[in-house]
Amino acid sequence: MTTSQTAVAVVTGGARGIGQACVRKFAALGHPVAILDVNRELGQALADELTAAGVQARYYDCDVADAALVDSVAAQVQQDMGTAGVLVSSAALIPNTESVMDMDLVAHDRMWRVNYHGTVHVCRSFGRQMINAGQGGCMVTLGSINSAGPMPLPAYNPGKAAIARLAQLLAAELGRHHIRVNSVGPTYVMTPQLQARIDAGQRDLAKIMKLHAIDSLPTPADVADAIAFLCSAAARTITGVLLPVDSGWGASATYMTYAGGVPWE
Ligand SMILES: NC(=O)c1ccc[n+]([C@@H]2O[C@H](COP(=O)([O-])OP(=O)(O)OC[C@H]3O[C@@H](n4cnc5c(N)ncnc54)[C@H](O)[C@@H]3O)[C@@H](O)[C@H]2O)c1
Repeated sequence: MTTSQTAVAVVTGGARGIGQACVRKFAALGHPVAILDVNRELGQALADELTAAGVQARYYDCDVADAALVDSVAAQVQQDMGTAGVLVSSAALIPNTESVMDMDLVAHDRMWRVNYHGTVHVCRSFGRQMINAGQGGCMVTLGSINSAGPMPLPAYNPGKAAIARLAQLLAAELGRHHIRVNSVGPTYVMTPQLQARIDAGQRDLAKIMKLHAIDSLPTPADVADAIAFLCSAAARTITGVLLPVDSGWGASATYMTYAGGVPWE
C-alpha cells in the first residue's frame, strides 16, 4: 500500500530532532502534518512556521506513555484533519551509559513506558483508525543500531530490539488491511543533542567514527528521507523490515575490532 499525498502524516516526537525532520519532509511532500509531542513550545512553533508557509499543520500535546490520552488525541486528529495515512513513531527518551546493577528502576520503567509502550500505543490508536477507514497506510517506528546488538543502555537498548520485533508483528497483522509497517535503524544521528553530548564528554566522536564504513554520520534529514522512502510507492512491497540508516555501522563495527588489525592500518 502507498499513501496519497493528501493523507495526514502523524509524527510523534515531531517537535525536535528526527521527528521534526520527518514533519518537514512529509510537509514538503504535500501531506497535512500532525505533530504529537510533550514539548509544546517547540511543537507549536513548528506548526505555526509551517502554517505560515501554507502547510496544514497542527500541534497536539500528547504524552505517548499514556494509552488513553493517545487514543483521544488520535480521535481529535481525525476530527480536525482527517484519517492518518502515515504514522512515524519517533518520540523517545535517550539515556547515557549505565549498568543493569546500578540503574534507577523508576527511570527504567519510564523509559520503557515512553519508548516501547508509547510506540505500541500510537501504532494501536492510529492503526485502528487506518483499519476502520479502509484506506490502508504506512507506519514507521524508530529502531536504532541498538536494535541489532547490546549496548550499555539497559532500558533503551532492549526497548529498541523490541521495537524492531514489534514492527514485524504489526506488519504480519496489518498487511491484510493494506497497512505496511517498517522500522528504521539509525546509527548516531548528528542532532544538536548528539553534539551537546559530545561536547559534554558523554559521547566520544573519534570512537564513534572508527566503527563506521563511511566518514559522515546521518543527519535527521537523511533519516527522514529513508522514512519517506518506506512510505512511498517505491517501497510498496516492503513491510516488516528494519532498514539501517547507519553509515555502514552494521558492516564495520565488528570488522574494525579484529584483533589482527584492519588491512590498511
Ligand atoms: N539521535 C540519534 O542518534 C538516534 C539514533 C538512533 C535512533 N534514534 C531514535 O530516533 C528517535 C528520535 O531521536 P531524536 O534524536 O530526534 O531525539 P530528540 O530527543 O531530539 O527528540 C525526541 C522528541 O520526543 C519527544 N518526547 C519525549 N518524550 C515524549 C513523550 N512521552 N511523548 C511524546 N513525545 C515525547 C521530545 O519532546 C522530543 O521532541 C528516538 O526514537 C531515538 O531513539 C535516535
